[in-house]
Amino acid sequence: MIKIAPSILSADFADLGREVQKVESADWLHVDVMDGMFVSNISIGVPVVKSLRKATDMFLDVHLMIEKPVRYIDAFADAGADLLSVHLESDMPPGIRAALEAMDRRGVKKGIVLRPITAAEAVLPYIKDVDLILVMTVEPGFGGQKFMADQLPKIAAIRRYINEHNPDCRLEVDGGVDPNTAPLVIQAGADVLVAGSAVYGAVDPAAAIKTLRGE
Ligand code: DX5
Ligand code: ZN
Repeated sequence: MIKIAPSILSADFADLGREVQKVESADWLHVDVMDGMFVSNISIGVPVVKSLRKATDMFLDVHLMIEKPVRYIDAFADAGADLLSVHLESDMPPGIRAALEAMDRRGVKKGIVLRPITAAEAVLPYIKDVDLILVMTVEPGFGGQKFMADQLPKIAAIRRYINEHNPDCRLEVDGGVDPNTAPLVIQAGADVLVAGSAVYGAVDPAAAIKTLRGE
């Protein structure tokens, strides 16, 4: 079953409560946290996740684009995140391990993320310990970028690893997902699709969500 996760990075932050209501027919809400260091952009942080938690019952899928994310796991767990995902490039392996252990202690679902440059094999040391693997199909930092089709073989390779080592693990794709590229990532094996501009840029976000699901 394909899940759609609209990214609020493309929403109007001055009217966030209403923007969330527009996408409540989706499955998850994708929240992009950026620190201006791991990526050049700065987006939103802990207080916004806390407010979102009060505004909706949707599953909060929080994508941490921050350096040494282990420092912030407790804060985002306290804020009400359901799943936290950390970039494999954001710390040395012991720091990534420590972040995943902190998520375990807090009962938060655990994700790892790969930048486009990072090879599929990088997931192997973690695959048995995570609930989700997120493959970026743009360079992280901004919404509205062009989908990188060269990431499709990586998605397919990670799907094979998941089927072999941890079949319950979700495979999420983020960046440039729209009605044209969604079938390609589903075909490659993704089962959670993040979409920012394709949902919030649409006249009817609920219809856009259906289209992305293939309905
Ligand atoms: C980019 C973010 C994405 C972004 C996707 O760094 O991780 O979640 O919001 O936006 P679109 O769907 O417009 O590419
Ligand atoms: Zn994201």
